Amino acid sequence: MSAPPSRFLTLNGTHTTLLLELSDNKAPIWRYWGERLPDGTVPTCSLDSERAVPSFSLDTNVPLTIFPTFGVGWYGAPALLAHRDGQAFAQDFTRCDITWVRPSEAVLMSLIDDVAQIKIEISLNLDPKSDTLTCKTSLTNLGDQPLDVHWLAAACLLIPADAKTIRSYTGRHNHEFDLQIDALSHATWQRENRRGLTSHDCVPGAVICVAETTCHTGPAYGAQLAWSGNHAARVDHHQDGSYYWQLGEWLAPGEVRLRQDQSLISPELLATFSPNGLNGIAQNFHTAIRARMTWPGGSMKPRPVHLNTWEGVYFGLDQAALMEMASGAAELGAERFVLDDGWFHARRNDQAGLGDWWVDTDVFPEGLTPLANHVVGLGMEFGLWVEPEMVNPNSDLFRAHPDWALQIAGRPLLTARNQLVQDLANPAVFAYLLKHVGALLDALPISYLKWDHNRDLTTAGSGGLPAYRGQVLAAYRLFDAIRQRWPDVEIEACAGGGGRIDAGIIQHTHRFWTSDCIDAVSRVSIQSGFLQFFPPELMGSHIGTSPAHSTGRAQSMDFRGGVALGGHFGIELDPRHLRLSEKEKVKSWVELYKSLRDTLHIRQTWQGDAGDGLHWQAQGNSADFVLSAFRTRPNPDRYPPKIALPFADPRARYSITWLAPNSGAQLNDSNFHRATATTPTTISGAWLARSGLALPLMMGEDAVVLKLTAVP
Ligand code: DGJ
Repeated sequence: MSAPPSRFLTLNGTHTTLLLELSDNKAPIWRYWGERLPDGTVPTCSLDSERAVPSFSLDTNVPLTIFPTFGVGWYGAPALLAHRDGQAFAQDFTRCDITWVRPSEAVLMSLIDDVAQIKIEISLNLDPKSDTLTCKTSLTNLGDQPLDVHWLAAACLLIPADAKTIRSYTGRHNHEFDLQIDALSHATWQRENRRGLTSHDCVPGAVICVAETTCHTGPAYGAQLAWSGNHAARVDHHQDGSYYWQLGEWLAPGEVRLRQDQSLISPELLATFSPNGLNGIAQNFHTAIRARMTWPGGSMKPRPVHLNTWEGVYFGLDQAALMEMASGAAELGAERFVLDDGWFHARRNDQAGLGDWWVDTDVFPEGLTPLANHVVGLGMEFGLWVEPEMVNPNSDLFRAHPDWALQIAGRPLLTARNQLVQDLANPAVFAYLLKHVGALLDALPISYLKWDHNRDLTTAGSGGLPAYRGQVLAAYRLFDAIRQRWPDVEIEACAGGGGRIDAGIIQHTHRFWTSDCIDAVSRVSIQSGFLQFFPPELMGSHIGTSPAHSTGRAQSMDFRGGVALGGHFGIELDPRHLRLSEKEKVKSWVELYKSLRDTLHIRQTWQGDAGDGLHWQAQGNSADFVLSAFRTRPNPDRYPPKIALPFADPRARYSITWLAPNSGAQLNDSNFHRATATTPTTISGAWLARSGLALPLMMGEDAVVLKLTAVP
């Protein structure tokens, strides 16, 4: 019997193709996701006709689809777990309609199950600029009985059989983006986050590699969920040797019950393939993330140098001292002064005050206006720290409205950092926060909010039901309401450092506070993990004090400056306590950052490792880039390693400018380095790409920065 004719659906990016097999009464079958296929390439036949029936198997072929479901032939992990009071527990599709939104790029698939009475709509949008696929899935209850939903994958991605490892990130407060590499096998790989926000522990994204994948070469597959709440990800082995990867929101029991015609919409998933290894994935994600953001005035202005008061003075706020600090910040070249925690009612330490969002007149008898005006008068922007979602039991707000905190009747109120989480989905809470944060924005020349979230959720109930999902959606609404009324304000997403770094919140904010750990050694790996998913201009990176408060390790100003340079640069110390020589050093790093930020930001980023403890980062384009090399422990070898830069143009010659250190005297350990620092020197692009740049001797914790520019 001849096979029925097959229909295929192809989405093409610049370097990637996604190909599905269609039929009118089934979910589209996964056939391919990977390197770009020549236009018009399709399989010779349907998957069904390609496959023999294995022994002791169903007589019908049940292939992996874009949305595998439970109970009607598919034995693998389903993309949906739902039922109606125990009924309709199995799903399968009886109709599939395809609507093109943009030919070859964006498509909407509508899948109906007439038996279980559900509709699944999957939108796939492959952006050719970023080669990133944005996927979103919605589930609608078409039946008249409520539908309880336990799992709805945002997407189910096909990963080919040669995939070997998955790189994900774990961590904790002060130790974000801790890389974890797991082998893929027949066992399921799974990560789940139930902390109610993105979490330090479980980054909602990962990269899958084949054996040959390196930083620069080889196929790699990346995915990250645009969601700031609970999430789950799993990779399962498929019976044909391939794998499939699902990511989505982790739903608490009872969290989603859909009445007739109600829908559950998944968070968006960003997924990308690159033939150019880990850096290719990072560059695709950077382009995709930039496209998701909205900036005051329509485009990103050069990222201003911050001075954040937290590690400089913590809760020890005093108007006169802060004014001096601001003057010191301006002298160092700061462009934005951010007043951190401690300015509001009764907030003398971390045990009281959260929720009472008015200025503490014991500390600031005339309010914050004199300080804010002083900051603005110095030519800097004024930024203010808030933590709207939180309340201390010791606050006027909690005493008046103890029921506004998320809670479960009969369970203790479990505090973390002495605080509880407000139920943002409660309209009274939302209105209270909008009113009080709004009053500050109306009264003061605030152009920046550092928006913190210093604890995970637990006992997160509201009216007896789980409130995790509602909390995230309400937080997004609050960000948007504030931005709509005060459109010139930029917002930083912080959650005890990097606890809320994700592609969802960045649609509502403009910067991440990457970590409370400003120790430069720790920051090298934290920032490297961050850059796998997000571009450098969003990465808050500051020069902190030495010894670092989070680790006790002491580091030179140049090492701290070099590591901070690559991100959105700032200072987090009290300028009043700097010695003259330290001030001069900080100033020179500020000046260097200002002179380089157009090259460092909104371009490409490459990273690499050149041997034990030597990490590098290049930013710019292949004709003009800044190269920073960081040594995080003493070199085990006698000679410094070379840095091969495969992205360098092999036909070009590059001029070398040493930026830090920048004098022949400091680079006098070899003729080559002395010469390149003192006389114009060029180096062949082919040599840079294939053999590499020789580095000077470096201390155990050290950074060097140079600029390489192709000369005509
Ligand atoms: C945690 C943040 O990460 C810090 O930068 C600082 O803002 C504190 N919270 C303030 O409580």
